[in-house]
Amino acid sequence: MATLKYISGFGNECTSEDPRCPSALPEGQNNPQVCPYNLYAEQLSGSAFTCPRSTNKRSWLYRILPSVSHKPFESIDQGHVTHNWDEVEPDPNQLRWKPFEIPKVSQKKVDFVSGLHTLCGAGDIRSNNGLAIHIFLCNTSMEDKCFYNSDGDFLIVPQKGKLLIYTEFGKMLVQPNEICVIQRGMRFSIDVFEETRGYILEVYGVHFELPDLGPIGANGLANPRDFLIPVAWYEDRQVPGGYTVINKYQGKLFAAKQNVSPFNVVAWYGNYTPYKYNLENFMVINTVAFDHADPSIFTVLTAKSLRPGVAIADFVIFPPRWGVADKTFRPPYYHRNCMSEFMGLIKGHYEAKSGGFLPGGGSLHSAMTPHGPDADCFEKASKAKLAPERIADGTMAFMFESSLNMAVTKWGLKTSNCLDENYYKCWGPLKSHFTPKSRNPAGLN
Ligand SMILES: [Fe+2]
Repeated sequence: MATLKYISGFGNECTSEDPRCPSALPEGQNNPQVCPYNLYAEQLSGSAFTCPRSTNKRSWLYRILPSVSHKPFESIDQGHVTHNWDEVEPDPNQLRWKPFEIPKVSQKKVDFVSGLHTLCGAGDIRSNNGLAIHIFLCNTSMEDKCFYNSDGDFLIVPQKGKLLIYTEFGKMLVQPNEICVIQRGMRFSIDVFEETRGYILEVYGVHFELPDLGPIGANGLANPRDFLIPVAWYEDRQVPGGYTVINKYQGKLFAAKQNVSPFNVVAWYGNYTPYKYNLENFMVINTVAFDHADPSIFTVLTAKSLRPGVAIADFVIFPPRWGVADKTFRPPYYHRNCMSEFMGLIKGHYEAKSGGFLPGGGSLHSAMTPHGPDADCFEKASKAKLAPERIADGTMAFMFESSLNMAVTKWGLKTSNCLDENYYKCWGPLKSHFTPKSRNPAGLN
C-alpha cells in the first residue's frame, strides 16, 4: 500500500485537489456557472448556516455526480444497532466485559456496518442530544458499499486490525493506537485485513473539539498539528445499479442503490472533514509533586454540552508516562462520579486492575456507581517504595466519559455473552486497616 498523504492541523480551512486534475477548485467563488472539469458543486454543512464563525463548519465538494444521484432509501435489517435505551431494565452495577468476540471469517463474512453492535447510550437522536457507544466486530471489507450517519459523529478507536477508510475527502489508514473521527453526513467505506475489532463513540448533534488548556498554556495534550486530514482522491467508477449507500437515520438503517462510486470528489475545500490522530503524539501532563490528578488531564477530544464545562462525551486516554508523585497513593483513587465512565483497552494492561480488564473488552461505571483499584492493587500501591517509575508502558487504556446516564442494551447485557459476572469480586478482599489507637502506625508521610 503506497504511503498516504495527509494535511496537518485541527479544524482549519483546507483545500485539496486530486493531482490528476490540477486547479479543479473554482477560483474566487463556490458556484461557477460551469465548474472546472465540468464537475458538480455540493456543500456539506456540519453546522447551522448561521452558527458563529468559531463553530461554523462546512466543506465544498467538487464531484463527478452529486450525492443525490441515488434510488430511494429503503429500511434494512438493523442487526445490533439500536437507540432504544429501554430494552432492558437499568443496571447500576459495575459492569465489565471480556473481549468482545470477532466472528470467524470462515463461518460468516461480516463487514464494518453489519458488524456494528450498540453497547450503551443515552439521549435523544431526534433532538440532537446524546451519545451511543458501539463495538465493531468484522472480518470483511465493505464491497461496493458505503455508510453515512445522519445522527452524529463517529469517533472510531480500532483495537485489533487496521482500517483503510475511503471517504469523500480521500483515504485514511487508521491503525490500532490511532483514532479517527468521521463527522455527520460524511460517506465512508472501510477495508479490513484480518479479524478486526474496535470501539466507537457516537455523539449526536455536536462535534468533537480540542479541550481548552487554561493555565497549561498554548501547548500540550493533543497538539493541533498532529491531527491529519486526508487529501482529495477520486475514482470514476461505474457500478451499474450495484453500489449501496447505507444511512443511519434517526437510529435506523436504510439502504439506497446507485450506479457509481460515491468517492468521486475531485477537489474539496473547507473546515468540515474527517481526521485521524496517533495517540502516541499525546503530550502527557501530570503531577510532579504529590496527589493523583483527575483524569480530565488526559482529555484528547471533547464534545461539549450546552452547560459550561460539562461534556456530552470526553475521549480520555491513559498513555505511557512517568509516575513521580511523592507521599501519594499513585493508582486512581476510589471514587463515585456523577459522570458515566466507559473504559476500553487497546493494548497491554490497565494499572488499576491486575487482570480481567483485557484488550478488546470494556467496563462501565455509571453515574455514582463506586469503583476504584482492586484489593491487590490497593495493597501493593499502599506499600510501594515511591521511586520514579514508568507507568503503563506498552499499554493504552481509554475512557469515554459522559454527563448522560447511559443505558446498556440487550446485546451488551445478554446477547454478546461477554459480561463478566464476577467483576464485583475484585473488590471483595478489600479489608479494613483502621487502627483507632494509632494515627500513623507505619510511620509514613
Ligand atoms: Fe472512574
